[in-house]
Amino acid sequence: MKSSVKFYLLFSLFLLGTILSFVTHSRAQGVSPSGEDIVNGALLYDKWYAALKVNPPANDMLIWSRQSTNTRSGPDTWRCVECHGWDYKGLEGAYGSGSHFTGFPNIMKLVGQMSEEEIVAHLKGAKDPAHDFSPYIPEASLSQLAVFLKYGLIDDAAYIDGISLKVIGGNETHGGQLFQQTCSTCHGEDGKTIIFHSEGVNEYLGTLANRDPWRFLHRTRFGTAGTTMPVGFNLGWTPEDGRDILAYAQTLPTGGEIPVVEPTTRPEVTPTKLPGGPATNLFTGILTGLGAFVGVIGYALLFTFGFILAGFLVITVLRRRKE
Ligand code: HEC
Ligand code: HEC
Repeated sequence: MKSSVKFYLLFSLFLLGTILSFVTHSRAQGVSPSGEDIVNGALLYDKWYAALKVNPPANDMLIWSRQSTNTRSGPDTWRCVECHGWDYKGLEGAYGSGSHFTGFPNIMKLVGQMSEEEIVAHLKGAKDPAHDFSPYIPEASLSQLAVFLKYGLIDDAAYIDGISLKVIGGNETHGGQLFQQTCSTCHGEDGKTIIFHSEGVNEYLGTLANRDPWRFLHRTRFGTAGTTMPVGFNLGWTPEDGRDILAYAQTLPTGGEIPVVEPTTRPEVTPTKLPGGPATNLFTGILTGLGAFVGVIGYALLFTFGFILAGFLVITVLRRRKE
């Protein structure tokens, strides 16, 4: 009797817990920010003056002079992305080295502990007067930036290998389908129709996907300010859909390919045929295995034998000396 009471008590507690978590979950979703704010915030983060269709300030951003490693000047110095990176991780991310290095902070980490209000206050210079964007960006847009930073960020490290710059676990086939449906009308089936002139170079979509996958992913998810490019986020795409397109785009022509020298014209790298060659059937396979086994044992024996021999030699030499 007592144990059944205990059971019912526990069971009702469990039920209550489940119901409560459901309620709080749906309430949390109820207050979720609008997708429009997230997308606008992302476009502002990319290039706020293009998103707002205004002229960028003429001078360099005040904070810019606190570093000297990134030698860009003018409008670029005002872009959130130039200081905090396409992966939002500043000095701890892709901009931790190279020509974009500034040493400015990883805001993905910082905004985790900030409320939307605190982010807006920071963008108005509350903590650092030099970080004040309020003379240029209207209040509503500052809020959108805060919404994007709170709810729109993804951790690119889950999708892009920081060393090889290749996509992690992407589905190229799926990415290819999405690309041919949505992107090829403008960029061409091979991504070569639109040529980007950035960073002083001309490049195709495939070039960019391989050179700066973080930028590719941000712009595939949120579009490019000042263009009519479709916005993945508005199409209901998940970050994984964006990752798949990136994986596919990394296979597109890059235009900068160095012609591959055929191995036959380079005798020094022509592989010599191995005696015996690789196993071709079960029997030769077993033979190869046995050969390897005997080989290893043989070496081990030879090695041990050599050791013993050396030991004997040392002992006899020492003995002779004593005599
Ligand atoms: C010229 C470089 C530069 C630009 C441009 C820039 N930031 Fe920053 N940002 C910094 C530096 C440096 C800090 C840390 C020191 C400080 O707060 O001034 C910082 C800090 C932050 C923080 C963290 C605040 C905190 O309390 O720690 C946020 C959030 C942020 N920036 C967002 C943005 C957004 C959004 C934009 C674009 C509207 C932007 N930043 C543009 C350099 C920049
Ligand atoms: C309506 C035409 C159009 C479509 C459709 C389109 N784009 Fe774009 N895209 C553009 C234009 C225009 C640019 C800007 C070109 C420039 O900067 O010179 C651009 C730029 C980009 C960039 C940024 C290049 C850079 O320099 O950073 C990426 C990445 C990109 N597109 C990917 C895509 C992907 C992925 C799709 C499919 C989801 C797509 N685009 C569909 C027109 C389009």
